[in-house]
Amino acid sequence: MSLDKMKRYEKFAEEIAELIRTGVLAPGEKIPSVRHASRTYGVSPSTVFQAYYLLEDHGLIQARPRSGYFVRKHAQRLLPEPEIARRSAETTEVGVSELVFSVLASLRDPDTVPFGSAFPSPELFPLQRLARSMAQSVRDMPARQVIAEMTAGNPDLRRQLALRYMVSGVMLPMEELVITTGAMEALNLCLQVVTEPGDLVAIEAPAFYATLQVLERLKLKAVEIPVHPRDGIDLETLAESLASLPIKACWFMSSLQNPLGASMGEVKKQQLYDLLRQHQIPLIEDDVYAELYFTREPPKPVKSHDRDGLVMHCGSFSKSLAPGYRVGWVAGGRYAEKISRLKLMTTISPSVPAQAAIADYLQHGGYDRHLRKLRHALEMQQSAMLSSAARHFPASTRVTRPSGGYFLWFEFPEQVDSLQLLQLALAQGISLAPGPIFSATQRFRNCARLNHGHPWDERSEKAMELLGWMIKSF
Ligand SMILES: Cc1ncc(COP(=O)(O)O)c(C=O)c1O
Repeated sequence: MSLDKMKRYEKFAEEIAELIRTGVLAPGEKIPSVRHASRTYGVSPSTVFQAYYLLEDHGLIQARPRSGYFVRKHAQRLLPEPEIARRSAETTEVGVSELVFSVLASLRDPDTVPFGSAFPSPELFPLQRLARSMAQSVRDMPARQVIAEMTAGNPDLRRQLALRYMVSGVMLPMEELVITTGAMEALNLCLQVVTEPGDLVAIEAPAFYATLQVLERLKLKAVEIPVHPRDGIDLETLAESLASLPIKACWFMSSLQNPLGASMGEVKKQQLYDLLRQHQIPLIEDDVYAELYFTREPPKPVKSHDRDGLVMHCGSFSKSLAPGYRVGWVAGGRYAEKISRLKLMTTISPSVPAQAAIADYLQHGGYDRHLRKLRHALEMQQSAMLSSAARHFPASTRVTRPSGGYFLWFEFPEQVDSLQLLQLALAQGISLAPGPIFSATQRFRNCARLNHGHPWDERSEKAMELLGWMIKSF
């Protein structure tokens, strides 16, 4: 794609976005068809398509099958999006575990409104159907299989995974796939395979708190690279850091980043890959929210650009199908063999029956149908939380607008301390994930991650109203 063309579709997308922002195109309104727009505005149909895909990615419009594109219900955001926290990269020892543990312990009460939770509602998962797959597959399992599958993992499951990769544009030999105890084990193994204690690892700021804890445990130092709330890590800062520091590995989420929900565009993913290839730095790609996109096309991982086996792509069923089964995997590229050996030396294998159940479900259970329902529910709940925030939170609050997943990241006015806000909220039976647990340097004090993965009801609305009062009280 030429740069000229890129500018053209971006410009056209911006013109449409402006019409949406100013209310000329109202929520629910149909936007011009591709043919009509191409004729009327003198741009090629492919430019219009690309512009519409971009608007869709930014959550402003949505495609309805056989009807065209429509302005999304909450496209006229009442609360603005956060800006990137621009800073140069910082190298730091990590010591957040105490804070993370104390916050996580406070979030465990099942009676609180679970805005601080890391999971969507269990009601959104086909647990009964999975149980049938578990019963069936264990009943039919030859005795030999129970111990035979402890190395790379259940072959049916690995084949199903390789097929899903293929459909999404990534050709993988099955040998690259290692089944793990959730993505968390995969991520740990990957990092151990490419680092030694004391090494530098580039991570995101803000980052998933467990990333920080893994670095802390392995005595690695973090180089925090700022993340843009919409399109992911700042490549310029990363390029400077790779050029000036002896970084040994990168651990990034290229799609639906936790906690920001940011997703890099295809071009940026390619640029990231080229940069890492130039420096021969391995990428640990954490992609556990891959299936929870609201866009028409699934986002492709950086792994789809990998010709050198430099990317270790980690996935999981915890967020999309089977929380608690603890089944994840890694497509380990050139590191697959080492990862597999390290797994054999540590946990040996995830539960064989759990793997067999998921393999059976993928084959017969209707996973794609379930995913369509799940995405729809999460998207509706996101709309509900966004509009509720606009009603109850101060107008200077900023909020992300991810194109998938079940987290929103809020940036409150400067004076709000989210650790204190958490204490106030807990006293009212509401949880939230405060900003400092997502940073090795405990920044993002006035920020918080809120979970909208639970069916929206009066209680959720009331909780948002109460939070609004608390925020205004600072
Ligand atoms: C970004 C991210 N990576 C990895 C994990 C861990 O996934 P799993 O449950 O498969 O170990 C989580 C779970 O919260 C997560 O949010």
